[in-house]
Amino acid sequence: MHLVDHPLVHDALAALRDARTPPEHFRRAATRISVLLATQAMCDLPTRDVTVESPLGPAPGRRVAPDVVVVPVLRAGLGMLDAVLELVPHARVGHIGLQRDEITAVASQYYSKLPSDLGQSYVLMIDPMLATGGSAAAAIDLIKRAGARTIRMICIVAAPPGVAILERQHPDVEVFTPVVDRELNDQKFIVPGLGDFGDRLYGTL
Ligand code: PRP
Ligand code: URA
Repeated sequence: MHLVDHPLVHDALAALRDARTPPEHFRRAATRISVLLATQAMCDLPTRDVTVESPLGPAPGRRVAPDVVVVPVLRAGLGMLDAVLELVPHARVGHIGLQRDEITAVASQYYSKLPSDLGQSYVLMIDPMLATGGSAAAAIDLIKRAGARTIRMICIVAAPPGVAILERQHPDVEVFTPVVDRELNDQKFIVPGLGDFGDRLYGTL
């Protein structure tokens, strides 16, 4: 678990937490924070040396080497996707649809479409909320079953039970988050958290 501590991350997080932030501004803050989190999560992305021709002659450079695959967990993870694709425009994209039951908070899968040949890929899973950890653990199970071996996750707010389940079930997956909040309430929402991310993103409250 990596805590990403940056003034711009905290600024965007405060906007996301604020109950008065309307969907339009919520989406923009989600984009801002996702760029910063993804940048940090991919700081060990392998590169290969290249030479490019600048207008004034040959210049050494480095290009991203591995196949990068971004996997948003629907639906809230879609709010982070465009930001990440700005950083890695050549990435392949997989989708996993998971929805928590409103009473039990147990996640069930309704969709999965992952790219093939993930064995050598660098997979970045994106899901803004890590609450009970049920969704993240299930999504990582699916990604691993598809063959992936290098997996990072970014989330915007985490809670202790989610952190604990990933440390237990997927200790190899590095998670990047700005914050681990205090607790979950009786409905398994993160407190203080920011509410239902998907509903606030899409105005479906
Ligand atoms: C949210 C969020 C995570 C999940 C986290 O999705 O995007 O996927 O809850 O909770 P957990 O750690 O307890 O599993 P939700 O099921 O509300 O679906 P949505 O993205 O479609 O709104
Ligand atoms: N999903 C959310 O969107 N928010 C929470 O607090 C927990 C799960």
